[in-house]
Amino acid sequence: MTKILIATEKPFAPVAVKKISKIFKKEGYELRVLEKYKSKQELLDAILDVDAAIIRSDKIDEEVLNAAKNLKIVVRAGAGYDNVDLKAATTNNVVVMNTPGQNSNAVAELAIGMAIFGMREMFSGKPGSELRGRTLGLHGFGFVARNVFRIARALGMKVIVYTRYSKHAAAAIGLKVTNSLEQLYEKSDIVSIHVPARGEHIKSVSYEVLKHLRDGSIIINTARKEVINEPDLVKIMEENQGIKYMSDVKPDCETEFAEKFKGRYFFTPKKAGAQTAEANLNAGVAAAEQIVGFLEKGDATYQVNG
Ligand code: 3PG
Repeated sequence: MTKILIATEKPFAPVAVKKISKIFKKEGYELRVLEKYKSKQELLDAILDVDAAIIRSDKIDEEVLNAAKNLKIVVRAGAGYDNVDLKAATTNNVVVMNTPGQNSNAVAELAIGMAIFGMREMFSGKPGSELRGRTLGLHGFGFVARNVFRIARALGMKVIVYTRYSKHAAAAIGLKVTNSLEQLYEKSDIVSIHVPARGEHIKSVSYEVLKHLRDGSIIINTARKEVINEPDLVKIMEENQGIKYMSDVKPDCETEFAEKFKGRYFFTPKKAGAQTAEANLNAGVAAAEQIVGFLEKGDATYQVNG
């Protein structure tokens, strides 16, 4: 019997697990659910004999892949797959997929929520500012950024973007594409980062870029902490007391932030961008359907390893 594992240290909403179970039941597959696990050993034990796994930000490294003797496919229910060792997966003949776009509206709504929270001085009672008429700079133009654009436009914001790979898509909908990342940071009141933690994006938000920020501007990071050069971020926040940083993940230098930048930052306690029932349902169901498609018909759409 085909065995599937849902391994989610941060569980899906129950409604998503229910729908995923239905999909696998229809195929006659057996489903095992490992949620809120505390140790890697629990994951190693659970993945040992399964044919497929659905994960979120769960770490699938070489040790896990070597232990999973029957594993044929891992689907990351979400966008970023920096938590999976793609090389080790390929060596072990395991297909890795993600579910692009499925949780992007949830992340976009969080980014906009953070923009409002930051502009309103974190609801402290101090006079803040409105989003209408302000310039929002999108660093990257993937699924999340496109949703942020849709919402920001409805709020009356001016939106500009820096993208290398989606210039035509951005220009086609009337978005102004800046010539450089530096220009984007210079012209924005709020910068929202939407690039993956891969390749040239790692530490791409460096001092050379940050030094162009306007006084009073806000950086929103619902992507990954790895895309920011943290010592450079600290440096610019020391130099420019008006800058705020709002992030869906704590930086490694959280203690330094607490000591130096009180009232100028906000970090979610646990990655919350995709934590909605809708996002879990969309991404979880897509992951389940992709597994069925692959196991039954060899459909490898959305494969991210070679
Ligand atoms: C993603 O890459 O899809 C988001 O960061 C969501 O991650 P999560 O599934 O761990 O909430």
